[in-house]
Formats: sequence, structure tokens, C-alpha cells
Amino acid sequence: MATTPSPIDAWNGHSGRSWVDLQPMLDGMFLPLTEVLIREVRTRSPHQLLDIGCGTGGTTLAAARALGNGAECMGLDISRPMTDAAIERARSEGSTARFVCDNAQTYVFAPESIDMFISRFGVMFFEQPVVAFANLRRAARNDASLCFIAWRSAEENPYMTTAERVAAAVIDLPARQPGPGQFGFADWEHTSSMLRDGGWLHVDIQPLDVTCAFPESALVSYFTRLGPVGVALQQADEATLASVAAAIRPAFDPYVHGDEVRYNAACWIIRARAS
Ligand SMILES: C[S@@+](CC[C@H](N)C(=O)[O-])C[C@H]1O[C@@H](n2cnc3c(N)ncnc32)[C@H](O)[C@@H]1O
Repeated sequence: MATTPSPIDAWNGHSGRSWVDLQPMLDGMFLPLTEVLIREVRTRSPHQLLDIGCGTGGTTLAAARALGNGAECMGLDISRPMTDAAIERARSEGSTARFVCDNAQTYVFAPESIDMFISRFGVMFFEQPVVAFANLRRAARNDASLCFIAWRSAEENPYMTTAERVAAAVIDLPARQPGPGQFGFADWEHTSSMLRDGGWLHVDIQPLDVTCAFPESALVSYFTRLGPVGVALQQADEATLASVAAAIRPAFDPYVHGDEVRYNAACWIIRARAS
């Protein structure tokens, strides 16, 4: 039976490299979610913004563009390859956004220094979410707010598990475990209590449904590089890769519309305040 790498190893290894390689496609696909976050950022207009689990920096850079020179935007991520990609993107677009590679659970922030925290899918992987949220709360100014986007359940996001449902019949695939991971915040009551236990107030969690899309030409790399199937196929030879891809691809037919793949992203938008 294949084993699942630790989250830190995964984001510094295969998963991190895949997100770097597929960055333009992923940022395009998640653009509607970036726009939701940036609307919140413009409304709040913070001076010090932190993007948690910022990955290759798409949302941090978008926040820096929206806020201009009056604000300091920082992205924090545990993955070296993804942080390096973010630093390179900031350099090439002349952005003032800064990026730090570290664990949001343990990073020592300047106390009471940040007035807005954002995240697009970067907060569901904490091994100890309450410890992480308490750490962020210590870094928060008294009037700080947070706005995170996280996935609702796997059942509400059938697109997301399409590849693994088919692949389980043809390759050795470890079952998803409950706890930290892509669907770790699916239970909104649990998420709400973790935030409150971490010292956050006025927690408000609402469903957010958006249509995400990307070119059909990227579909096979999408499902063979990302998620549990991507992890299971990382050492596969060309022949295995081709046969597994051929087995999985028809299951995506309902999501293919001409030259585009489209699906509903069933998410939560999570807001809270420090006081
Ligand atoms: C699904 S990716 C999302 C990346 C990015 N926010 C985006 O939307 O493109 C999750 C990110 O969370 C990061 N991450 C996971 N655990 C973390 C932790 N404890 N501290 C900081 N970053 C973490 C991973 O390295 C990864 O970049």
C-alpha cells in the first residue's frame, strides 16, 4: 500500500513542484476566488497584509497591486519551491510584496503588527489549527480581520475527487484521511470553533460557489500531477502514466465544454475579527 508523505515533505517535494509547474493554469483557474479576496482587501484597505499559505504568490501579488505603495504585503508559505517561485514572480513584476518560507503555526511574527490576513486554500493543512490561529492572533493588531477561502466537503466538490475515484481501481492509492488536508475545513462548525479557540471573534462562515475554468489542453497534466493521483503517479513510467491517464480522462467528460474545463468550486468564505 502506498504511503502518504507528511504535509511538510509533500509541499517541499512533489506537490510543491507540481504547483510551481502548473502555476499559470492554477492562478487562471482560481482567478474568480482571487477576485473575491481582492474585493475584501480593497474594502479593508490594510497597511500590513499577510497571505497565509501563499504558495507561488498569486494572491499576495494581486493584493500588492490592489493596495499600491501604501501597504506592505507579505506571503508566508512552508514550501521552499513555491516560495522561491513567488519571490521570482515579485522580482519580475517589480512588486514590493515579500515572501517568507516558514510554518504559519510557529513563525515568530512581530506582535500586533498585521491588520489583515488572507488565504486562498492555504489554511486547511495546519497540523494544529488552533495553535496556528492563536499564533496569527498574536500577530494581529487589535482591529485586524481575516478572510480565508477553504473547500466545503468532497461530496459537494465531486469534480475534485473525479480522478481518484477512477484511479483507485487501477493504481495503489492511499485513501484520504480525515483531519488536515484539502477538505479539512469542510465542517464549518468545527472551523468556527477552531478559530474561536485560537482567540478570533465574530467568526462568520458563508458558502461561496464560483465557476472555475481552465483550458482542456491542461486537463491531463492537472489530474496526473495534482492531488492523491499526482502523488501516486510521481514515480510512474511513461507507459503507466499514459494508461492511467487514458482510464481516468473519460470521467471528466461532463466537465469539458469545447476547449474548456468548467466546474463549480464549492467553498466557504471565512471571516473573523481580532476584537
Ligand atoms: C492548496 S495550496 C494553495 C496555495 C496558494 N494559496 C494558492 O491559492 O495558489 C496550500 C498551500 O499551503 C501551504 N502550507 C501548508 N501548510 C502550511 C503551514 N503550516 N504554514 C505555511 N504554509 C503552509 C502549502 O505549502 C501550499 O503552498
